Amino acid sequence: MPNFVIAADHAGVQLKAELVAELGKLGHTVTDFGPTGAEGSVDYPDYAVKVTSAVVGKQAPLGILVCGTGMGMSITANKVHGIRAALCHTEFEARMSRMHNDANVLCLGQRVTGVGLAISILHAFLDAKFEGGRHQTRVDKITAVEAKR
Ligand code: RB5
Repeated sequence: MPNFVIAADHAGVQLKAELVAELGKLGHTVTDFGPTGAEGSVDYPDYAVKVTSAVVGKQAPLGILVCGTGMGMSITANKVHGIRAALCHTEFEARMSRMHNDANVLCLGQRVTGVGLAISILHAFLDAKFEGGRHQTRVDKITAVEAKR
């Protein structure tokens, strides 16, 4: 099973490549759902669905999505039941999204966040662990909200 699944749109391809390389250096296996860049302009929801389907289907525990701002990816990903996508601009947000929200998808914006910071955010997301306890109660309530929709 890959540790990670990743995808982008045309506005996130370069940062995606940097993140795939970093994950490889760390010894993780990554499934890259594309695009390669050769496709030209693509639609971020099509790629968000690839990663979120793999996470919900338990083909990977965590996913990463990159677009220009990270917003389109995070909005789309959070429509999928079972996905808790966190659009992160800081290491703190990435750490807290795992510790308190049990985030299972990290979203980044290539046009917003530089490569160095994005890699630090990735590290923070990987290293942090969900704390459970009262946070599990709250995550269960998110799941209950989903179940009513
Ligand atoms: C593409 O131009 C851009 O709209 C997309 O990458 C993303 O930023 C949308 O949220």
